[in-house]
Amino acid sequence: MSPQSRDPVDLSVDLGFLKLKNPVLAASGTFGYGKEFTPFLDLDRLGGFVVKGLYTSPRAGNPPPRLVETAGGLINAIGLQGVGVERFAHEILPGLRKHKTALIVNVCGDDEQEYASVVKYLDGHEGIAAYEINISCPNVKRGGSCPALKPEDTRTIVETVRKATSRPIITKLSPNVTDIVSIALSAQEAGSDALALVNTFLAMAVDPETRKPKLSNVFGGLSGPAIKPIALRMVFQVAREVSIPVVGIGGIVSVEDALEYLIVGAHAVQVGTGNFIDPETTLKIIDGLEKHCLDHSISRLDSIIGTVEIP
Ligand SMILES: Cc1cc2nc3c(=O)[nH]c(=O)nc-3n(C[C@H](O)[C@H](O)[C@H](O)COP(=O)(O)O)c2cc1C
Repeated sequence: MSPQSRDPVDLSVDLGFLKLKNPVLAASGTFGYGKEFTPFLDLDRLGGFVVKGLYTSPRAGNPPPRLVETAGGLINAIGLQGVGVERFAHEILPGLRKHKTALIVNVCGDDEQEYASVVKYLDGHEGIAAYEINISCPNVKRGGSCPALKPEDTRTIVETVRKATSRPIITKLSPNVTDIVSIALSAQEAGSDALALVNTFLAMAVDPETRKPKLSNVFGGLSGPAIKPIALRMVFQVAREVSIPVVGIGGIVSVEDALEYLIVGAHAVQVGTGNFIDPETTLKIIDGLEKHCLDHSISRLDSIIGTVEIP
């Protein structure tokens, strides 16, 4: 039987506060502001995309070198370069609004008040489906660390953002912790509508000839296929403990990767470094999910979420 003659597959997933046409989103920082990818793919086919992190003002990020390739991965120390909320709202958002896909804005701040200012400002502008609260960046002033490393700091930021906006908030967690479940539960109790995990793993690389770090910032964040098994384990651990939806991120470059995340309990997935390897990675995964469903007589993709069989 040809795929055309079979019943169509329902790829949609429901996050409760947001229904996505399919569970595949592009991850923040790897997809620009979306418009950079329009020469390569039709944004309307995506479940959604998350734009680069925004502070209240423009940021230059760290000086180069800011990227190093590693075995199966990439270390980045971009340092949250961004255009700031005003330029985004006036110059970029109007062009994105016409797309029939969920636009999610990644929100950054040096302290909780800045996170609140960013969402309050953007609340005055139509076309944003949800905010992804990036509490997992190493640049936030919390004794030099980021708020997603401690349950109490996570709670403070999420509670402050929760009070500042009525739009849905997705809290993005750091993997650089011993007990990610305790951080996830803090974000849930503070009013987060969903969780996204993981951000990058703190990493470094050294040039043996010069004996100097390869990144100007010394440290960077490791992403890509190298991190997938660890990120998958964290998504599994969190998804079975929380009652809000989880978005799985980390090393997803193929349909098999995406399926693994859905099966361990993610309601949706984000593709990050995969967009650099092949700008059509998201679309290939969406097509692959449809094919998987057809091949396995699955009429609704969401029926596989959380179906991992633990002996
Ligand atoms: C170059 C680069 C820039 C990134 N910028 C952001 C950012 O602005 N905000 C954010 O929350 N995550 C950012 N991330 C993290 C990704 O969104 C994603 O969580 C991480 O790369 C893991 O997914 P992956 O293995 O599919 O890349 C960035 C990652 C890379 C590689």
